Amino acid sequence: MEKKNNFFNYYSYQNQNELPELYRNLLKEASLAAEKAYAPYSHFYVGAALLLDNGEIVTGNNQENAAYPSGLCAERVALFFANAHYPSAIIKALAITAFYDDKKMVSEPITPCGSCRQVILESQLRQKEPITLILMGKEKIYVIEDASLLLPLNFNKDLLL
Ligand code: THU
Repeated sequence: MEKKNNFFNYYSYQNQNELPELYRNLLKEASLAAEKAYAPYSHFYVGAALLLDNGEIVTGNNQENAAYPSGLCAERVALFFANAHYPSAIIKALAITAFYDDKKMVSEPITPCGSCRQVILESQLRQKEPITLILMGKEKIYVIEDASLLLPLNFNKDLLL
């Protein structure tokens, strides 16, 4: 028996001004997308913005439904849109932020749910290039340089028989 260890490094910033302009801009787009979220049930408004290697920025926001499981998270709305419209583009970065209670930004960075992690991971595996995640809260911003770090021991198609 061997005890294994799994940890990862990421960056935490106190202030947006410490970030490169490209990332600040992407976070701005994520915020604007969050404002347009359709979240009448949770009142939790999430925005995601993807930076593609062709220079395009694709955004998405959460889309809820009275039949709750029929809704979709902001991250997957953005990723599926990007893949539908730009199937061969490489995703360089994904910025995420969220607002609640009449547009207060979450204080801690929003971290994607398990299903979104799985979808982000598959995009990364397909393009064979890491996707940088930029997660913004009011108090801090996290930058994670590889999406696979958020899903250790993940299930992926190489594991299929
Ligand atoms: N949500 C997202 O859009 N992204 C996340 O990373 C976490 C949760 C949405 C789903 C639902 O519409 C609302 O936030 C509350 O869970």
